[in-house]
Amino acid sequence: MTAFDLDAVRADFPALTTPDAAGNLPLFLDGPGGGQVPRPVLDAMVEYLGHYNSNLGGFADAGRRTTQLVADARAAAADWLGAASENIVFGPNSTTLMFNLSRAVAATFAPGDNVVVSDLDHFSNVSSWRRAAEDAGCEVRVLPLDADGIDLDYGRLADLVDESTRVVAVTAASNLLGTRPDVARVVARAREVGALVSVDAVHAAVHEQLNFEALDADFLYASAYKLGGPHLGICAAKAEHLSGLRPYKVEPATEESPARWEQGTQSFEALAGFVALVDYWAEFGSGGDRRARLASAYEVIDAHERTLTELFLAELARRPDLRLYGRASVDGRTPTFAFNLTDADGVRDASGLVRWLGERNVALGLGNFYALGAVRRLGVETVLRAGFVHYTSADEVRRFFALVDEWSGSER
Ligand SMILES: Cc1ncc(COP(=O)(O)O)c(C=O)c1O
Repeated sequence: MTAFDLDAVRADFPALTTPDAAGNLPLFLDGPGGGQVPRPVLDAMVEYLGHYNSNLGGFADAGRRTTQLVADARAAAADWLGAASENIVFGPNSTTLMFNLSRAVAATFAPGDNVVVSDLDHFSNVSSWRRAAEDAGCEVRVLPLDADGIDLDYGRLADLVDESTRVVAVTAASNLLGTRPDVARVVARAREVGALVSVDAVHAAVHEQLNFEALDADFLYASAYKLGGPHLGICAAKAEHLSGLRPYKVEPATEESPARWEQGTQSFEALAGFVALVDYWAEFGSGGDRRARLASAYEVIDAHERTLTELFLAELARRPDLRLYGRASVDGRTPTFAFNLTDADGVRDASGLVRWLGERNVALGLGNFYALGAVRRLGVETVLRAGFVHYTSADEVRRFFALVDEWSGSER
């Protein structure tokens, strides 16, 4: 597949044609929570489990294939994130990897050091560093949102990130507001003072091609299940950290890097699904090697997602009882939208709406989505969140607004 044929794309997802008991087809607006899984990924996982299930180090066919699979998965992750295989660490999810890596980094902290986290981040990249810093007796500083409550307040970088800063933790895209902050600017400030940078690319990696090496971050995290893969966390880390830091690991487990960071037995079926996912994604693009095809795939998919963003923002703007948080423009954002129901008194409880939609098999989120800093800054406890991915159609966006109108009408 080189052109983006949405009907063909959607035909690859069994979940999109699986109705609920009442016969309602699903409307997945919860993309930022995790994507549905295309057939090639499902097939690869079933094939591995059904025919080649093994542990590492086996000499027979299944064992040899499993060893090869790990190498293939590292190569796929390297292509996906713009790193080398030696940079790639796998784990059950990004949060677990963040806690593991941050503890090993914190073993090098001294009293008087500080870490800087951001108000735009999912709390995986906040709590992991906060807890590590607290245990080491270090200060935790917070890079706030700007006056609009949309992007980071870059003006604060100079005073918050100083000679005693050991780590700056920042997101590459907000899973709540969709904001894509200027990560390069944060990395540049960290480099001036010799601080490490931990980039949470879990949401960003669904919508843009990352380049770990060019970004010059120390740690970068992504989760395959957000893109339609299995539950699998991936960290790209500088090789010097993976060999220089001391992992919390079982003594007889390998000391070879990067495998020394992978505690216990990995989910090899997830690795099989992940390799298939990266190959699936690359097929949307064209070009020489897989990394080049992935780059062009992201462009093709971005063009589609931009049309969905335009449509969503236009429809939302026509409804004064829906208040958007975050950028009201197509640029500088992902197709993820935080909003709330409002009336003359302010923000209204939206739980009735999400339940009503849920009964019609529409998955719309309501919560803080672990982006606590941003939610607090917005002065609310919860937001509604709709997020699109490559298989979302314009018809689905229209159907969503028609349902919201129907619910509003029934409320009056
Ligand atoms: C931006 C962001 N960071 C981190 C995470 C946590 O990732 P995982 O579920 O792989 O631990 C999520 C999950 O929702 C996320 O959206």
